[in-house]
Amino acid sequence: MSEYTSITKNALIEGTKIEFDLFLRNDVSGQARYILFCRADEQFSAAKQEQLLSKNTQKLYISTKDTDKYLIYQEANLKSIVDDKNKSSLEKSGALYQVAANITEELLDNPRTGKHIERASAWINNTVNHVLKNENTFSSLFEVTTHDYHTYTHSINMSVIGLLFGKYLSLNPHELDCLGTGMLLHDIGKVVIPQEIINKPGRLTKEEFSEIKKHPKAGLELLELKSNVDSLCLKIVSQHHENHDGTGYPYGLGGSDIHLFGSISRIIDVYDAMTSNRPYAVAKRPFAALAEMKAEMSNCFNEELLKEFICFLGAKDPRKKPRTDDTLMTLPSIAK
Ligand SMILES: [Fe+2]
Ligand SMILES: [Fe+2]
Repeated sequence: MSEYTSITKNALIEGTKIEFDLFLRNDVSGQARYILFCRADEQFSAAKQEQLLSKNTQKLYISTKDTDKYLIYQEANLKSIVDDKNKSSLEKSGALYQVAANITEELLDNPRTGKHIERASAWINNTVNHVLKNENTFSSLFEVTTHDYHTYTHSINMSVIGLLFGKYLSLNPHELDCLGTGMLLHDIGKVVIPQEIINKPGRLTKEEFSEIKKHPKAGLELLELKSNVDSLCLKIVSQHHENHDGTGYPYGLGGSDIHLFGSISRIIDVYDAMTSNRPYAVAKRPFAALAEMKAEMSNCFNEELLKEFICFLGAKDPRKKPRTDDTLMTLPSIAK
């Protein structure tokens, strides 16, 4: 691993103490040299900011061993980053995703630590803010999502796509908060399932699948101990594998017995899994995933809501640039 990691100057907030050394890079005869620009105990002052602006410096560097400090700094300053009018929607989305990755990984390593849940809900707060205030969060948030399937990236994608879809459905800020948090925590019960089963490439045996099926209830039990998790969030944790026709798990609920948030999470859970690279399958294109969900899994979903989801994603491919063959198939035909 390289000794230095680049960061964008826009990740820094004027007037804050940085807590890690900042470097500028100077290439001399093909050799990179890193020059100390702002010491860890110094303030990132207006004068420093001005210096960067005058040289049109976009990138700074930190020592790679300080990465954790940098993530803590970003998390602590997330509100200022999201509120900053000088930062682009993409920069804000990038910071949000990076912070979420750090929180979610630690949360899944240590799900019983209340502190991580508090960090997650602070993150949701900032993300809801970002989603509500900015018009183009749809494209910028989709752009920063990662498509290699891990429980933590899948959880963040669930949360991000859920918030954007929730905004489209005109949910109020409190509902968005609960939706985003529930989506982020939905698979937390997987921590009690043996890792060999979670990461197994290929088909699961009947016994292994019955282990997997325990995760919604395990997640519920884990989170019910925390009095600060809203009951709306828990609907997602317990119902995201319930099918509309009653064939899902863990309770076999169906139709209107499934909460709206349970139905939303069922759709996005499948959609994100299908459009991500998994150990046993390559990512499907968004259109192919939606078409398969509509044609072969319609028993799983609330039909009206699936139509809404298809319309929400629109005819454009939100994750990658459209391919020529996408234009041969138009989404409205599967939205019917
Ligand atoms: Fe799940
Ligand atoms: Fe999931």
